[in-house]
Parts: sequence; C-alpha cells; structure tokens
Amino acid sequence: MHFDQAIRAVTGCAQSNARAYPAASEAEAELTATQRQHVAGLMRVNHAGEVAAQALYHGQGIVSKNKQIQAQMQQAALEEGNHLAWCSQRLLELNSHASYLNPVWYVGSFMIGAVAGLVGDQWSLGFVAETEYQVGKHLEEHMKLLPEQDSKSIKILQQMQRDEEQHREDAIHAGAATLPFFIRKLMRWTANVMVKTAYYI
Ligand SMILES: [Fe+2]
Ligand SMILES: [Fe+2]
Repeated sequence: MHFDQAIRAVTGCAQSNARAYPAASEAEAELTATQRQHVAGLMRVNHAGEVAAQALYHGQGIVSKNKQIQAQMQQAALEEGNHLAWCSQRLLELNSHASYLNPVWYVGSFMIGAVAGLVGDQWSLGFVAETEYQVGKHLEEHMKLLPEQDSKSIKILQQMQRDEEQHREDAIHAGAATLPFFIRKLMRWTANVMVKTAYYI
C-alpha cells in the first residue's frame, strides 16, 4: 500500500479526497512566453513541495505506533493529494511538466519524515507544524512573484495557503513540540535546495 502511495505521489496520480479545482471558474490570462515559463517554474516548485509533503506524511505515518497519529498523517497526505492534483493540472494548462527530480524529493522527504516519526509523536507533529509554517511563508512569496493577471495560479495558491495554515493549527492542537532552532534552519536550507532546483528541472 505504501509503495502504491509513493508511486502515485511521484507520478502525479496521488490519492486525494478530490476537492474542486480552485481555478475552475477563472479564465486563462494573457501571458507572454517568458511569463508563462516563469509561472510554470513556480508551479513546478509548488508541485515538488507537495510531493515532498506527501512523502513526509507517509514517512511519519509508517513509523508511528500511535493509531491516531497514523490516521492523522494519512488524512493529511490525502489533503496534500488535492494540492498535488491542482498543481499538476495547472502545469498541464501551461503546457509544462512536473519536476524530473520528484522521485528524489520523495525519497529524501520520506526518510526525513520517518526519522522525525521515530523520535516521537510530539516531535513528529512539531515537524508537521514547522513544515506547514514554512510552506505557508513560501506560498506567500510565490503569490508576489506571479503575474497579477494570472488569477488561475493565484486562486490555487490562496486555497493551498489556507489549507496549510489549517494543517499547522491541527498539528499544534494535537500536541506539536517546537523544534530546535538548528533543525528549523536545516529544514529551510533543504527546502531552498528544492525550490532552486525544481524551478528549472
Ligand atoms: Fe499542501
Ligand atoms: Fe499541508
């Protein structure tokens, strides 16, 4: 089952609870070739981030002995599956492709998630809260970088940002511990490598 989930996340057929596409009612904006390429780069980064989020949750879910945490991680992965599907769809609309390095992001994040999960549930939840916080900040930055007429991409990122904030709050309510500074720094550094690379490939 976990192998199936991994293949689905990496190939873009992730399981989700199939929420409606937030950009469905928006018309396609007039974009120059350069703008289109830039938007595709940004959406590829967001797509890769969602692959990584799925992997984190899968990794944490697989090692946790706590049934409630396992269920919460599975549910979170399903919700990230919606984000993955939305970013995939937007990339298709832009005639672009997902990151070729998605399997790398998946494996790396899965291992990080599994290690966090092994350390203990409150740290695992702390990891979720910090990840969601960093993703939220990153989405905010991306919204400033998108061409203002691209309401389709903006709608998608706005909805994702609201969801990530909810995921963060859920983790805090479930008992997340605050991670040490150097771990947060390391997470930011790792995310940066992905952001810089997935924009291009
Ligand atoms: Fe997400
Ligand atoms: Fe999330």
